[in-house]
Formats: sequence, C-alpha cells, structure tokens
Amino acid sequence: MLSYPEAKKFYDAFGKKQDKQFYEKIAIRDLLEHGDFTSANSIFEFGCGTGKVAQLLLSDYSKPETHYVGVDISDTMVKLSADKLTEFHDRVRIYSTDGAPELPEKSNCYDRVICTYVLDLLAEQDIKRVLSEAQRILVTGGYICLISLSHGVSVVSRMVEHTWSFLYRLKPTLVGGCRPISVLKYLPEPEWEILHHNVIVSYGIPSEVLVAKKL
Ligand SMILES: C[S@@+](CC[C@H](N)C(=O)[O-])C[C@H]1O[C@@H](n2cnc3c(N)ncnc32)[C@H](O)[C@@H]1O
Repeated sequence: MLSYPEAKKFYDAFGKKQDKQFYEKIAIRDLLEHGDFTSANSIFEFGCGTGKVAQLLLSDYSKPETHYVGVDISDTMVKLSADKLTEFHDRVRIYSTDGAPELPEKSNCYDRVICTYVLDLLAEQDIKRVLSEAQRILVTGGYICLISLSHGVSVVSRMVEHTWSFLYRLKPTLVGGCRPISVLKYLPEPEWEILHHNVIVSYGIPSEVLVAKKL
C-alpha cells in the first residue's frame, strides 16, 4: 500500500501519463452513460487526476450550468486538471488535499460524487472513509459513481488479474499503487440502492463500474 506521501510523489511524477491508460476508456464511458449526469447541478470528484473524466463529463454529459469540484493529493494533477478545464472556469473548482479522505465540504450538497481508479490504491480503512464522506456530502437521492480495478471474470482477465497482483506485491509503484478490489461490498443495501453494476474487461484488464443512489 502506498502511503499518502508515496502516492503524491508517484502521481506528481506520473502526471500526463495518466491519460495514456488505454484500458480505462470503455469503463469511463459506461459510468458516464449510467450516472444520469444531465439531472445533476453539482458534481464532486475525489482523485480527479488530469481532469480527463471531468472534461468528458462537462463537455458531453452534463448541463451547461452544472458545477464541478475536484480534489487530488498530487499538485501536478491539480495543475493539469485546472489547465484542462479552463474552458469551464466559472463552473470549476479544484484543490489539493493531504490525502485524508475527510473533506472541507458541507453535508448534503452534491448531486453526484465520482471516484475513478482511486479506491483501488487506498487502504481498506480509507476506502470506507471515502465512501462515508461521499455519503455525507451527497444529497439524499444523489448518486455515487465509482470505477475500480477489479477481479477477472474470464480466463484471460483472471490471468491478467493474477499478473497485476503479482506485480503489485513485488513493488506497488509498478502498477501505480493500484490492486484489484471489489467495491460492491462497501455499499450496504439499507444505505445505498445499486442502480448500475458492471465489470468491463478491456485489453484483459477488468474494471468494476458502479452507480448507487444514497437512500
Ligand atoms: C490512477 S489515478 C486516477 C485519476 C483519475 N480519477 C482518472 O480516472 O483518470 C489516481 C489518482 O488519485 C490520486 N490520489 C491518490 N491517493 C489520493 C488520496 N489519498 N486523496 C486524493 N487523491 C489521491 C492520485 O494523485 C491520482 O491523480
């Protein structure tokens, strides 16, 4: 598991290479198509990276007046995403955090919380803290929209998963600090209604896509 300073150091150096993660595209499209973003006025993203998902979201999947707030532990990522989203400047706010999942945001104020390919690099306790914060800042009826590296669902994707996990155990930075996880178990039914759940395999790499409504 990467510590916060290790994750920051890695992603500060990784920067724009994050946009070359070819296997993420189909899962991101699946999430954007199932998150009903056109009915959202406010969107929060945890671990916004280069702003790749936000750019797609704001240009193709949301209303022109929707507001977006993104946070990231990496100053490089915060700068890259701010640059990428300049055309939406008056609707966008991006800031860096020290990595702790607790956020300086009011309760019950966002219609959507997004987190793509971030939970899979956090410790189990932090995954729970991020999801608890998402639940706090979402309005009732708001959606949490997640993608994580996940477990294989076919022979090829299971082989890829095993190779990925092997590399992670050898040295987490070889695979960006990420390991395959299953997110569904962190969203218990009395608190969340699962609206969309899918595992997408692209280039043999499995991604879990999940949209759930805060009840
Ligand atoms: C694999 S990248 C994914 C970026 C983006 N969400 C995407 O899908 O392209 C992981 C991102 O999470 C950020 N990150 C890692 N740990 C974090 C933490 N504890 N708090 C906030 N951001 C974090 C990294 O800096 C990096 O930008």
